[in-house]
Amino acid sequence: MAAPGARTPEPEYMDDRAEADAYAAADFSSVNAAFAERLAELAAAVGEAEALDLGTGPADIPIRVARLKPGWRITAADASAAMLDIARRNVDAAGLRGRIVLVHSDAKRMELPSAAYDVVFSNSIIHHITDTHALWSEVARVAKPGALIFFRDLARPASPAAARAIVDAYAGAESAVLQEEYYRSLLSSYTIEEVRAQLAKAGLRGLTVAMATDRHLDVFGRVEP
Ligand SMILES: C[S@@+](CC[C@H](N)C(=O)[O-])C[C@H]1O[C@@H](n2cnc3c(N)ncnc32)[C@H](O)[C@@H]1O
Repeated sequence: MAAPGARTPEPEYMDDRAEADAYAAADFSSVNAAFAERLAELAAAVGEAEALDLGTGPADIPIRVARLKPGWRITAADASAAMLDIARRNVDAAGLRGRIVLVHSDAKRMELPSAAYDVVFSNSIIHHITDTHALWSEVARVAKPGALIFFRDLARPASPAAARAIVDAYAGAESAVLQEEYYRSLLSSYTIEEVRAQLAKAGLRGLTVAMATDRHLDVFGRVEP
């Protein structure tokens, strides 16, 4: 397989209201359910926990996780005020205001305490971020020693043509806007080798980086002290 071409970054925050509304209106139920189930599987032994979700978007994932893990309190952070407005409505409608705390925060510089979280998880934030060292350093700072980490994101395909083929195969029925967004996200994502190097640079040891599907990578494991 050819080595992937250079990354083409997409905008970091999804703070445009129309973009946030379009994202929230799209049906990600099966991928979000798969994420929550995989996290619950990884965290089968974790009963009570302080958990942190980075780049929570409309908060559909923490809502699903809260239902699967009744002993968890989840801090759900996003840097986009538009997304947080949607997330607040969804958390209220789910009746989970007491267990999911929404915070307006950039994952690269969070005003959150150090060594405070038993679980840190995130779906689809890595590809938004160019300064990944700041992201992973913050994860290392806020995670308790031995904390469970689970990040899932797209993995950059070998070429723009390969990215286009993935869009056609998995999002061919979506609107043109969502297809274009998906294509840009694929080109903005990282390879597993790049993510492994990012973790090593940030001193995050004990984590596995592996392909989860033909287009997703997972970062998971327990942070070694
Ligand atoms: C593709 S969405 C994923 C949302 C959610 N995790 C999900 O899977 O449904 C990415 C989210 O990350 C947020 N985001 C991007 N960069 C961020 C950063 N540096 N700090 C916090 N949130 C960020 C965006 O605003 C957006 O809401």
